[in-house]
Amino acid sequence: MVSDRSYQFPPDFCWGTATSAYQIEGAAQVGGRQPSVWDTFSQLPGRVLNGDTGAIADDHYHRYQSDIAWLVKLGVKHYRFSIAWPRVIPAGRGQVNETGMDFYRDLVDCLLANGITPHVTLFHWDSPQALETKYGSWRSREMASDFADYCTAVVHRLGDRVTHWMTLNEIVCFTHMGYEVGKTPPHAPGTRVWSRKAVWQTSHHALLAHGLGCQAIRAASPQPCSVALVDNPGVTVPLTESPADIAAAQAAFHTNWVNGGVIFPALTGQYSEAQLRQLGRDAPDIRSGDLEIIHQPLDALGLNIYTGTYVRAADNPQGFAIVGYAQGHPRLHMPWLWLVPDCIYWSIRHISDTLHRPDLPLLITENGCAAQDEKTAAGEIWDSDRILYLQQHLKSAHRAIAEGYPLKGYFLWSLMDNFEWAWGYDRRFGILYNDFRTQERTPKASFHWYAECIRQGRVV
Ligand code: FCB
Repeated sequence: MVSDRSYQFPPDFCWGTATSAYQIEGAAQVGGRQPSVWDTFSQLPGRVLNGDTGAIADDHYHRYQSDIAWLVKLGVKHYRFSIAWPRVIPAGRGQVNETGMDFYRDLVDCLLANGITPHVTLFHWDSPQALETKYGSWRSREMASDFADYCTAVVHRLGDRVTHWMTLNEIVCFTHMGYEVGKTPPHAPGTRVWSRKAVWQTSHHALLAHGLGCQAIRAASPQPCSVALVDNPGVTVPLTESPADIAAAQAAFHTNWVNGGVIFPALTGQYSEAQLRQLGRDAPDIRSGDLEIIHQPLDALGLNIYTGTYVRAADNPQGFAIVGYAQGHPRLHMPWLWLVPDCIYWSIRHISDTLHRPDLPLLITENGCAAQDEKTAAGEIWDSDRILYLQQHLKSAHRAIAEGYPLKGYFLWSLMDNFEWAWGYDRRFGILYNDFRTQERTPKASFHWYAECIRQGRVV
C-alpha cells in the first residue's frame, strides 16, 4: 500500500489545515460577543508584543466565505477551526446568543457546500472573561460544568451537521502557562498563583472539563459522532535509535513537561506514578470519581506537534538524560521551534506504545512553523524554509503510517498568518500571507507545495 520512497499516503488520509477563533475572527464586539480572557490580557500593557490584540485579527468573521474559497483552491477536504465560547454564551453560563451560533452555522454550511468536513474544537483558550471575573475560571471546579453546558448548547444546535468534535486544545497552555507561581505568565488570564499545587489544580479542572465535555457532546449529538482531545505532549526523541536510547526516550516521556499529569490521566485514567512522585505535595486534589470522568472513551486523539526533546540512555537512577540542542542546531522563527522532524513519528509511537493505546486513532491536529516571510518585488513569498520544515515532518508522519501506526490525518498550522498569542502579528505561521492593513491574502510558495502534496496524496 504505502511505498517508502514515494511517501505515498493512504487514499483515505485526511489532509487539512487548522485555525482558531481568537487568532483569526476579529469582530470582537460584533453580534453580541463579550470579551474573552485574551481580549483582557492583550490589552494589558506589556503582555503582547507591540500591544497587538485579536480585536480585528484576520477579520475572518466577515470574510469566511473568501477564506473557504482558499481552502477549495488548496484542495483540502478537512478543516479544523474553533468556536469562541464568549460569542456563543457571552456571560460564560446561561443565555445562549443565537446570533453567535448563526455565524458558526453559516460557516459550517459553507464548508459542507464546498465538500469540506468541519472538525470543530470547542475550546481554544478564549474563555469568557465573565467567568474569570466570577470565580477565576480554571482555578475553580465550576469551570468544568460550565464548559459541559456550553458543549451541550453548541452540539444541540450544530450536531445535525457537525460530526467531528474536539474538546480542549492544549491544556498546558491555558492552565500552566496562564497561571504561574511568582512570575508573570505568558498566556491569559495571566494570573500569578501562590503554589505549584494551585497550578496543577487548574489543569486538573481542565481534565474534568474534558471528561464532562465528552459526556455532554455524546448526550447532545443527534447522530454518531467522533469526540477527541487535542494535546501537545512534550515529545521525547531518542538521540540515536539504539534500543537503549529508545527505552530512555520512553521512560522520559512519563514526566517530560506535563505529560504525566495531562495526557496520561486522559488516556489511561491515572496520573503517571513518576509524575506524582515528582510532584509530591504539589499534586492536585483529586476527588473520588474524578479519574473516571477524565478517562472517557475517545474516538481519536489530536496531537499538536512542532518540536521534540532529545533523550539518551544514562547511567543514573532514572536511566535517561535530556540532551540539549547543539550550538548549530537549526531553529525556525520562534525561540522554542527547534527543527526535530522525528517528533511527529515519536509522538505517535509514544501514544501507541509508551501509553499502550495502539487502539486509538491519531490525528496531527497542528504542525507548521513561523518563518520570516518577505514579499518579493513581484509580491510573491518564497518560503523555502517552511517547505523544508513541512516536508521533513510529513515524511516522519509517513514513516509512522508505513510502520502500521494509526495516523489518520494531518492539519497544517495554519491556513493563514494570524494573531500568534503573546507574539501578536509578529510571527507568521500561515501558508497564506496576510497583509493586516488590507486583509489581502496571498498564497506563499508553501501553499502551492502543500496543494501539490494533496493532489498527489504524497510528500512532494
Ligand atoms: C499552538 C497553538 C496554536 C498556535 C501554534 C503556533 O500551541 O495551539 O494556536 O499558536 O501553537
